[in-house]
Amino acid sequence: MLYRRFGKTNEQVSLLGFGCMRLPLHPGGVYANIDVEASSRLIRYAIDEGVNYIDTAYPYHGTGMSSAGQSEPVVGRILRDGYREKVKLATKLPSWLVQTRKDMDKFLDEQLRRLETDHIDFYLVHALNKSLWANVKRLGIADFLENAIGDGRIRYAGFSYHDEPENFQAIVDGFDWSFCQIQYNYMDEEFQAGRKGLEYAGQKDLGITIMEPLRGGKLAQDLPESVQAAFHKAERQRKPADWALSWIWNHPETSVLISGMNSMEQVKENIQSACDATPDSFTAADEEVIGRVKSLYRQRIKVDCTACGYCMPCPSGVDIPGCFGYFNNLHMYGKEDNYRFLKPGERASACTECGACEEHCPQCLPIPELLKEVRSVFEPA
Ligand SMILES: NC(=O)c1ccc[n+]([C@@H]2O[C@H](COP(=O)([O-])OP(=O)(O)OC[C@H]3O[C@@H](n4cnc5c(N)ncnc54)[C@H](OP(=O)(O)O)[C@@H]3O)[C@@H](O)[C@H]2O)c1
Ligand code: SF4
Ligand code: SF4
Repeated sequence: MLYRRFGKTNEQVSLLGFGCMRLPLHPGGVYANIDVEASSRLIRYAIDEGVNYIDTAYPYHGTGMSSAGQSEPVVGRILRDGYREKVKLATKLPSWLVQTRKDMDKFLDEQLRRLETDHIDFYLVHALNKSLWANVKRLGIADFLENAIGDGRIRYAGFSYHDEPENFQAIVDGFDWSFCQIQYNYMDEEFQAGRKGLEYAGQKDLGITIMEPLRGGKLAQDLPESVQAAFHKAERQRKPADWALSWIWNHPETSVLISGMNSMEQVKENIQSACDATPDSFTAADEEVIGRVKSLYRQRIKVDCTACGYCMPCPSGVDIPGCFGYFNNLHMYGKEDNYRFLKPGERASACTECGACEEHCPQCLPIPELLKEVRSVFEPA
């Protein structure tokens, strides 16, 4: 495992971090029903192999964004037996649930209990955008973070970001952050914080954590034939996941990227990638391969949904990421037979256009409008 300096914290973090938003599930695939044994095997193996950054958050593996999920308590259990001391633990304040200054302490104290620890190494204000930032600032986030660092409940303060590129700098400059977490992969160079944000945070010497490095798996599995062919023709032969992860680590500003892994094969592959990656090592030929793949994808993907589930649950029962996933599959692979397996209440036609989902979408997708397109393709009148 290779390590890099994590910005001004001067901590050494492993290139690969473990993201705990997509842990293995028990048969039936209920998101809140984590297979703790399987998750423990993967996470402890990764730690034994040198992974030292574990990322979770208040709502992961729950029933929606407004309640506590199962990821934090499961991570707490997995980090027993001495594993907690081997890692830097990251979790996040659910900024959209905070209504008072007191709430901030209440959530942090609850998270410490759920994670069975007396401190969080990297504490992030979760999913900031312009309006959530204005709200937590007004409610006293600076005072909260300074106090929590002062009394040792957190070691470093950071934020994760999901908004238009132009709002990023104001948040970076709005507090003395130690680090930030941004979405970045070869398809998202100009999306959200993007390359400009990465460079700006790098100039400020923030530690930078990369999330969704494989776009939720889409850059690693079931690739369209044209993309497979482009990789196949490359001078350097590597797996698609390795291409995507190595492309991120090629940027000297990046250090840890967090990948949600849910099989031992994925963990081993990504650890292997993290043992070989050095900054500025991509050749012109490598850049050309990625450039070709990007344009092939851009021609095919219709809805930029990463299946993060932040828009769920829909009050009418629509399976929003499911609808978009089938829609994208149709465009990427030319056929899609599985939409019919959605229950009628989960299909795009069940959308009442109430708009409740849109404000939660980190990708700022016009969800009801897009669902109309899905409906017209899969459920023509
Ligand atoms: N702060 C925020 O607002 C925010 C938002 C989103 C995510 N996050 C964090 O970022 C972490 C990473 O995001 P992510 O889970 O979307 O990461 P990701 O690495 O982009 O996607 C993870 C998925 O990629 C697939 N995968 C991983 N390694 C693979 C390999 N070697 N070969 C083939 N497929 C592979 C798996 O898909 P299958 O499961 O289909 O096998 C896995 O579930 C999350 O776990 C979470 O901790 C934070
Ligand atoms: S707009 Fe449609 S998909 Fe979104 S929450 Fe309302 S009913 Fe559900
Ligand atoms: S529509 Fe937006 S919030 Fe919902 S799963 Fe897709 S990216 Fe996430």
